[in-house]
Amino acid sequence: MHIARTIDELREHLAAYRRPAFVPTMGNLHDGHLDLVRQAKPLGDVTVASIFVNRLQFLPHEDFDTYPRTWDSDCEKLRAAGCNVLFAPHERALYPEAQTCKVHPDPALADILEGHFRPGFFVGVCTVVMKLFSCVQPRVAMFGKKDYQQLMMIRHMVRQFALPIEIVAVDTRRAADGLALSSRNGYLSEAERAEAVQLSKALRAMAEAVRSGERDFAAIEARATDALRQRGWQPDYLVLRRRADLRAPAPGEPLVALAAARLGGTRLIDNLEIDSMA
Ligand code: PAF
Repeated sequence: MHIARTIDELREHLAAYRRPAFVPTMGNLHDGHLDLVRQAKPLGDVTVASIFVNRLQFLPHEDFDTYPRTWDSDCEKLRAAGCNVLFAPHERALYPEAQTCKVHPDPALADILEGHFRPGFFVGVCTVVMKLFSCVQPRVAMFGKKDYQQLMMIRHMVRQFALPIEIVAVDTRRAADGLALSSRNGYLSEAERAEAVQLSKALRAMAEAVRSGERDFAAIEARATDALRQRGWQPDYLVLRRRADLRAPAPGEPLVALAAARLGGTRLIDNLEIDSMA
């Protein structure tokens, strides 16, 4: 696996390839990331991953400084998964000057849910992804469904800027008890880790209620929110939304249940697609 630390070095190395398949990450890799790499492999003539903890997408009180950085094991895992090129720029290499030119995604999608609770988050995400796309110039890029709103945002950005990149969505990898894999799961204590599964259980209960014909979505959301709150969680949202645009559901449309909640000091997110309603 070739490791490139600068944009020039990366571009020089990729000049020989026509169809890079790209997996952007912030490192601290788990099996969910490695699924992205493995699924990228047959889609391009070279598989490129990036590791870059992007300051722009963290709010001042968030965990930028403490975000887990696990370089050696990340490299090992990427090699084993068949990654060919790792782009791991130092902050100065990607942002040699203050990044004042930014991508401001559509507020209709960017300012709700995650964007409401983490203002500016999607500006940071879209800006770095646009810059990484410019560096790697991929033909295919892989994003996990675990970050459902992020995936939608990137698809929208790619469409609006007519970027010649196919965005491939990859299913969420879960632990045996159902907890969605996430780098932030590492923050959980043993007791919190045992409790954390309740988030995916709450989503499954919401999906089950919809599937069984319940149509009072507000009541379903309130029940799930209360259930978590009673267990000591601090929910930001547990909602049912249309998959097409994450707006309020209308009958007959495919839905997704989305959740974000804090357990102790750790904020977890998850989601579950629900088959179309009658
Ligand atoms: O999903 C992530 O890990 C990050 O938001 C991404 C897409 C790598 C941008 O920093």
